[in-house]
Amino acid sequence: MIFSRHLFCEIKDLLYLWRMIFYFSGTGNSAWAARRLHQCTGEELVDMAGALQSGADSLHYTLEPGERLGFCFPIHGWQPPALVRRFVRGMHLDGADGAMTYAVVTCGDNIGEAMAIFSRELRRRGLELHSALSLVMPESYVALPFMYTDTIEREREKCRQASADLERFLPLLLDGRRGEWRLVKGKCAWLLSYVIGGFFNRFMITDKKFRADASRCIGCGQCVKACPVGNMSLADGQPQWHHDGSCTTCLACYHHCPRHAIDYGRVTRRRGQYYFGKNN
Ligand SMILES: Cc1cc2nc3c(=O)[nH]c(=O)nc-3n(C[C@H](O)[C@H](O)[C@H](O)COP(=O)(O)O)c2cc1C
Repeated sequence: MIFSRHLFCEIKDLLYLWRMIFYFSGTGNSAWAARRLHQCTGEELVDMAGALQSGADSLHYTLEPGERLGFCFPIHGWQPPALVRRFVRGMHLDGADGAMTYAVVTCGDNIGEAMAIFSRELRRRGLELHSALSLVMPESYVALPFMYTDTIEREREKCRQASADLERFLPLLLDGRRGEWRLVKGKCAWLLSYVIGGFFNRFMITDKKFRADASRCIGCGQCVKACPVGNMSLADGQPQWHHDGSCTTCLACYHHCPRHAIDYGRVTRRRGQYYFGKNN
């Protein structure tokens, strides 16, 4: 069974070599899902954060007739991250008419109406979202009083379940099936996305609250390397945030610090750290 699925993926690999998966990831969950999609479909991986940093020319893509287009990203405040929406608004696609479009999103608990919001973003660009999946994965947001990383057992269980869900989705995707597969919207999805999420994304996405504790920071630069949007550098051996509006508050800098020297206000001082692969 496993053998035949892999063989199936490899044959598809040859057929779909030039299709694209646009992805964004802070702590690695969505990057893991995007890599698995890439392995199975052969679709080229395009880092949306990198493309936006490289400027307008990098947002120009040409599709062959009937090509498929994939998006893979985390949910931030029950909405697609602003960076993803900026990418969709800025991208130039030639030959996208009728392209089959899909989205795989990752979240810690639930996504609210994020997929409906994303679908509308695509529609404004003349694209229709054909199929969508959400994967519940380890929690990365710890910057509010009631938010914590998962226990290691829960992390492993979430990753195991997400992997099983993704494997079930892949044949449906490859067969071109339309639909929403296991969209975990949560209770009061509308309220989560449009009211609480609206407030969160408007007022709580900022790098102004990041600080590095000079007594613990060893200037290793892991935080700079981990930042997916290039919003950090080292000055006098200490991390600096650029305050240029590019931060998505993905907390990759906080989670990757080997000395737990980075905090986001006081609230993260005794919180756990997580990135994909840290504990498994
Ligand atoms: C700023 C921010 C906001 C988040 N908002 C939500 C949310 O609304 N719902 C949820 O279930 N998880 C939320 N999370 C958790 C992430 O969506 C989840 O951990 C995701 O898998 C992280 O993906 P990544 O590792 O690719 O960055 C949030 C994480 C961050 C950093």
